[in-house]
Amino acid sequence: MATQTTQIAAVILAAGKGTRMKSSLPKVLHEVASLPMVGHVVKLALDVGAAPIALVVAEGMDKVAAVGREIAGDVDVAIQKEQHGTAHAVLAAKPVLGELDGILLVLYGDTPLLTQATLESVIKAMDADPKCAVAVLGFIPEDAGAYGRLVLAEDGTLEKIVEAKDASEDELAIELCNSGVMAIRAELAWKLLGQVKNENAKKEFYLTDVVGLARAGGYTALAVEGDADEVLGVNARGELAMAEAIFQYRARQKFMDAGVTLIDPDSVFFAADTVIANDVLIEPNVFFGAGVTIASGGHIKAFSHIEGASIGANSTVGPFARLRPNTQLGADVKIGNFVELKAADVKSGAKISHLSYIGDASVGEDANIGAGTITCNYDGYLKYKTTIGKNVFVGSNSALVAPVTLGDGAMIGAGSVITEDVAGDAIALTRTAQTVKAGGAKEFRAKKSTEKLAKKKA
Ligand code: UD1
Ligand code: CA
Repeated sequence: MATQTTQIAAVILAAGKGTRMKSSLPKVLHEVASLPMVGHVVKLALDVGAAPIALVVAEGMDKVAAVGREIAGDVDVAIQKEQHGTAHAVLAAKPVLGELDGILLVLYGDTPLLTQATLESVIKAMDADPKCAVAVLGFIPEDAGAYGRLVLAEDGTLEKIVEAKDASEDELAIELCNSGVMAIRAELAWKLLGQVKNENAKKEFYLTDVVGLARAGGYTALAVEGDADEVLGVNARGELAMAEAIFQYRARQKFMDAGVTLIDPDSVFFAADTVIANDVLIEPNVFFGAGVTIASGGHIKAFSHIEGASIGANSTVGPFARLRPNTQLGADVKIGNFVELKAADVKSGAKISHLSYIGDASVGEDANIGAGTITCNYDGYLKYKTTIGKNVFVGSNSALVAPVTLGDGAMIGAGSVITEDVAGDAIALTRTAQTVKAGGAKEFRAKKSTEKLAKKKA
């Protein structure tokens, strides 16, 4: 990785309001694969070994800063009070970054699909040429529209970047566009950015001007071409959906390459942090939210919704199961249809096969939880824990009123409402005793058919 040779700092721009999202949420907090877009970019900065990392936000975007800190604990947050352009935004990070060596990367909080390999190709291009002061990631979009155009010199180096609004007709015909992503030689960065003026159509301080300024200072600049998909910037909900689709396509390929079977790849959705071992089988229509790991041999059946759960080796989940956060399944666990688990620690070999809610609970090894069993974990004010021991058998349609503990080997009769602890190997039954009247049904039918006949005659 480039980190061994070169120091890398990164600035992530995220101060834009994103008005086209028509949202009360800052744009970069909208999620792709259950991770805020800005989170993808902070992760990428970490992956290429960037330190320090500065996040440029507008005033009041505390939540954006918090998401950044969740992923990279020591991310520096800079506030850009007014948005006067991309150069102005990068300069806002100067007080938190200070003097730098090596390379300064400029990344964007609304561009979540950029890959490590592509960003490293930009870093390498700059590393390879000591005269290069700026390396820009270019791409060829279907419609160049409002993108800045990369004007190449005869020797193939990058001459300048022209914004569409300031471009001549010849320049507008250029296909290679500016993704915005660039590497700047760090010791020159603040000086070059300080020279940028706002004499242009938008009266903004354009980051793109550092290319011309670097060349005027005797340095050279380079363009590296990348894939248009990777630099998709999200400005509106349609682009958010597009970013999601591209992410999911990649994730499906990645998991299949790693030995995961997807019967219908297009109907399975992963989170950015999903971890799945080989030889896991995933049926159609499964959604993974954040925080899921599945060990080898797992089988996730159709129409299951799973988040914040770790699933042990050879366990089966679904069809139609819901696993909510803080759920752990040991090995060889069976979770069947219409079962909901929340903060449940289900040990190896346990079975919860049908129609249950098990929340704030632990379920011991090889326990069998009958159909329709409910942990009553909430009294309207507080939540309580249910502890179920090893080899416990809970009969169908039982309510376990927490806090309650069932000792190892205990049995609960079907239809019980358990409010007190049950000792190990004991049987607890709370339903009323059954009464039987021999021939009673026959008598009942005779009586009622006579009554019915009498009523018809009347
Ligand atoms: C910029 C590039 C353009 C490129 C395009 C790619 C410049 C001058 N132009 O244009 O060449 O083709 O990106 O998408 O750089 N931002 C701030 N503070 C600011 C201004 C912007 O944080 O003061 C952030 C925005 O949140 C946004 C990003 O920087 O995510 C890009 O800014 P924007 O104004 O959208 O630049 P473009 O006009 O798209
Ligand atoms: Ca933009």
